[in-house]
Amino acid sequence: MEGDQAAQLRHLKNGGDARDSMTKGTDRSGFHCDQRDSSIRVIAITSGKGGVGKTNITANLGYFLSKMKKRIMIIDADMGLANIDLILGLTPKYNLYHVLKGERTIADTLMVGPGGIKILPSASGIQEITELSKGQKLALLDELNAVNENLDFVLIDTGAGIAGNVMYFNMAAKEIIVVTSPEPTSLTDAYALIKILYRRYARKRFRILVNMVKDPAEGKEIFKRLSHATDHFLNITIEYLGYILYDDKLPEAVKRQKALAELHPYAPASKCMASLAEKLGMEDMPVQDEQGSIKFFWDNIINTNHG
Ligand SMILES: Nc1ncnc2c1ncn2[C@@H]1O[C@H](COP(=O)(O)OP(=O)(O)OP(=O)(O)O)[C@@H](O)[C@H]1O
Ligand SMILES: [Mg+2]
Repeated sequence: MEGDQAAQLRHLKNGGDARDSMTKGTDRSGFHCDQRDSSIRVIAITSGKGGVGKTNITANLGYFLSKMKKRIMIIDADMGLANIDLILGLTPKYNLYHVLKGERTIADTLMVGPGGIKILPSASGIQEITELSKGQKLALLDELNAVNENLDFVLIDTGAGIAGNVMYFNMAAKEIIVVTSPEPTSLTDAYALIKILYRRYARKRFRILVNMVKDPAEGKEIFKRLSHATDHFLNITIEYLGYILYDDKLPEAVKRQKALAELHPYAPASKCMASLAEKLGMEDMPVQDEQGSIKFFWDNIINTNHG
């Protein structure tokens, strides 16, 4: 733990002075790709602390994006118990593990969720992705490229925290959405995650989504606290993506193993996710920031070694 850690955490809890800051640091990842298909956006949905809503957000954003006629694939890269297939009532026969082992093709593995979203189910054996040989990774890339031809968005539901696997998927995706709740530990863990992704992996663009807020003002307030800390201690600028209201209908949907958006499309949290999907679906990717292609993503998976 670094010496300045305590000050940073205190700063987060108390707010702190916002300072004008410029995004600093160079992208040390050094990855590039000649045949980018910049029309496919690969977005990791991640968090420092567990249980902040990533899986539900991924599923419902995917659903609303698909309603906008976007073609969606969700990669479940979460090793937790509440996996996306579970909350959507799907029973996968195969998962990424079987693909990595060369036992099944991606086509065998993909499940179709609500709104026609494609879901690549998770596997507890997924940690082995970092240990695959280059040949195995290349075979996987061929498979994925075949699937990805017809996609607009790939959403990756990562695990929580700073474990190798989470870093791996965050590192490989071009866009990162960090989910936090108003809970102080969720905020400090979000900060810790951003800090590592920036310092160790040279990621510079983070969009923050505040879940389970009581009103829009709380979302902004939580974001402000986090951005004060990142401005002050990391000297990077984070962006506010938006908020999702706390909604009793969401745990109910989880229990019924249905996407909230499908079950209660006009519930408060559904409406928030619908407008977030609209925001994501309508925006143009900045031209200078075009590495968000699926090829970039899989090239990173193949060329990097993160334990
Ligand atoms: N907006 C919300 N309103 C009310 N409850 C919510 C909301 N978002 C999430 N929850 C609750 O939090 C629980 C955890 O959500 P979810 O499984 O999506 O989190 P997660 O970040 O994916 O967790 P993990 O880190 O374990 O993978 C849900 O089952 C639900 O009960
Ligand atoms: Mg989850």
